[in-house]
Amino acid sequence: MNILAIETSCDETAISIIRTDTFNTPTPNFTVLSNLVISQINVHAEYGGVFPALAKREHAKNLVPLLEQALREANVYQDGSHDVDDTLLENILEREPTLYQALKNLFASIERPRIDMVMVTYGPGLAPALWVGVNFARALSIAWNIPIVPVNHMEGHITSILLKDDYMNESEALLPLDQYIFPMLALLVSGGHTQLVLVRDWCTYEIIGETLDDAVGEAFDKTARMLGMEYPGGPKISQAALEGKENESINLPRPMIHSEGYNFSFSGLKTSVRYLVEELEQKNELNEQTINDIAREFEHAVADVLLAKTCKAIETYTIRGLIVAGGVSANTFLTASFKEKMNEYSIPLYIPETTLCGDNSLMIATAGFIQYWRNKTTVSESELVAVGNLKL
Ligand code: KG4
Ligand code: ZN
Repeated sequence: MNILAIETSCDETAISIIRTDTFNTPTPNFTVLSNLVISQINVHAEYGGVFPALAKREHAKNLVPLLEQALREANVYQDGSHDVDDTLLENILEREPTLYQALKNLFASIERPRIDMVMVTYGPGLAPALWVGVNFARALSIAWNIPIVPVNHMEGHITSILLKDDYMNESEALLPLDQYIFPMLALLVSGGHTQLVLVRDWCTYEIIGETLDDAVGEAFDKTARMLGMEYPGGPKISQAALEGKENESINLPRPMIHSEGYNFSFSGLKTSVRYLVEELEQKNELNEQTINDIAREFEHAVADVLLAKTCKAIETYTIRGLIVAGGVSANTFLTASFKEKMNEYSIPLYIPETTLCGDNSLMIATAGFIQYWRNKTTVSESELVAVGNLKL
């Protein structure tokens, strides 16, 4: 079976094609035939964050060229043409005229490719962005008469840890699904989410804590902006923090570190950075070194809070493995802090391969695979909708 996976929940347009010959084993062969991502960072940088209408437009522009390239890389591309019910297609892509035209042109220039199933992110994320991917999947489902597996983006991040480091060169790119001992805990840290999730089994999740305001990635991005760094600020802060030193006059709070339960709050941290910046500006002490010092202290504050709540949950729920995933799991200071702590606890720590920390469609193929392995359910084109605030 060749499976096409699509991700458009935020500012990355991603398409992959994987091949498997069975859904009936926890140790499947799983070959990555193509894995493509177009990042819209440059488009959004001047707005200092993701602009939903622009994200939608960029996804609509990028999807067909990406699909074409993925089909070529997967060796299922052949010149020719195939007939598709144009009225149906036009209806589905009514709100995506650019996408409709591009897809129609593609169908008129290739043979029907051997794709047997489509998996797509249907939430959570920016609704206009999600809808483009969802409608694209619906159109392909109708055109090629293939079923759809809808995928939760957060389950994608959780399962991104299952891809081997060498995933592009392996016929068994997926780690054995039966080697994990439950319950596991997943700390999901991205631009839109900060959640502690109890993973009782694959497909069985319970959110035990989440942010009450800003997500960690969002706090990184907003703090970076105050320090004069471009969007997305996460990688820039972590770069600056490397040059930062301990500085007596630069102290940030650890919000909610001792609070009951497992929720987080990061908006106060951002406000504290603002006061700190204003104070240093007044004293004429805001310079490259103090900016690096703030970046360092910010990373420490974030890591302290995330670690404290995670450790509390590990002890309470007798956790057997910790997953740290989502865009912010690319932060090496954070992951080093978790590695050290999990060594103390003798608990395995699972972090995605660096190239799969941010949004991608391979994690959507992985989560979709697991869903179908467990539940064997698909939906038809007419049943699929985007759900911006979808929960795990
Ligand atoms: O998972 P992701 O790619 O998209 C969402 O689903 O939101 O996460 C993006 C977030 C951004 O806020 C970005 O600044 C942050 O991940 N990020 C980082 C690092 N790399 C990306 N934050 C801290 N350190 C990094 N190295
Ligand atoms: Zn994400």
